[in-house]
Amino acid sequence: MQAKDRIILALDVDTAEEALQLVGKLSAHVGVFKIGMQLYDGIGPEIIKRVHDLGGRVFLDLKLHDIPNTVAAASRLITRFNTFMFNVHAAGGREMMSQAAQAAREQADRQSTAPPLLLAVTVLTSISQQELAEDMLVTSLSVEELVVKWALMAQQSGIGGVVCSPQEIIPIRKACGPDFKIVTPGIRPLWSAANDQKRITTPRQALDQGADFMVIGRPIVQADDPVAAARRIIDELEA
Ligand code: C5P
Repeated sequence: MQAKDRIILALDVDTAEEALQLVGKLSAHVGVFKIGMQLYDGIGPEIIKRVHDLGGRVFLDLKLHDIPNTVAAASRLITRFNTFMFNVHAAGGREMMSQAAQAAREQADRQSTAPPLLLAVTVLTSISQQELAEDMLVTSLSVEELVVKWALMAQQSGIGGVVCSPQEIIPIRKACGPDFKIVTPGIRPLWSAANDQKRITTPRQALDQGADFMVIGRPIVQADDPVAAARRIIDELEA
């Protein structure tokens, strides 16, 4: 994989205009554009088509979590949009993940396209050890142990990879093997501001630890020259 293809640019903006301006500028310099609830809920599926029209691939980050039948139906629809990646919550359970993966594969077969890479979100990085124990009543496992167990459950359910914190790359890679895709946010080059991200890693460190893709937002989007920032990250990944 080329270094640029590992970069997923987070389109964390409110309007189609801002998003498409970024896509136009950056589609030759990053591999994937992440569309989350902020954009999708405001604009609708049309935003996916418009990113595709500009030559970008799409990670639809809607973190599906519902009964298996409903998530399977949504997975079928998202596959029809020809997204490159989308995701579900592992907390939805084994059956939900299996049905989502199966629905995506079957729909891709029907339309003769490559199936999207389906990812699972394990434990949200915003959940602390204390919340896990006191509010979610998980007292027998650490966050890291639960993350690894759910990554394995996702893999056994036919899911292609996970979104996880940089801290979890090494244990997940060890448990799930070389072909399971690992996508990590919390990426900060040394030359950029941390913003609200706390446990951060550089793009190069994430790659060395075994990440396949990295979600990067503000270090590129808020740079004075976003193309130069993306090029600099690519150079560091290739060094
Ligand atoms: O601007 P920044 O590089 O921090 O953007 C990171 C992106 O990754 C945002 O879209 C954020 O919602 C997402 N993300 C994250 N941490 C997680 C999961 C997703 O920062 N644990």
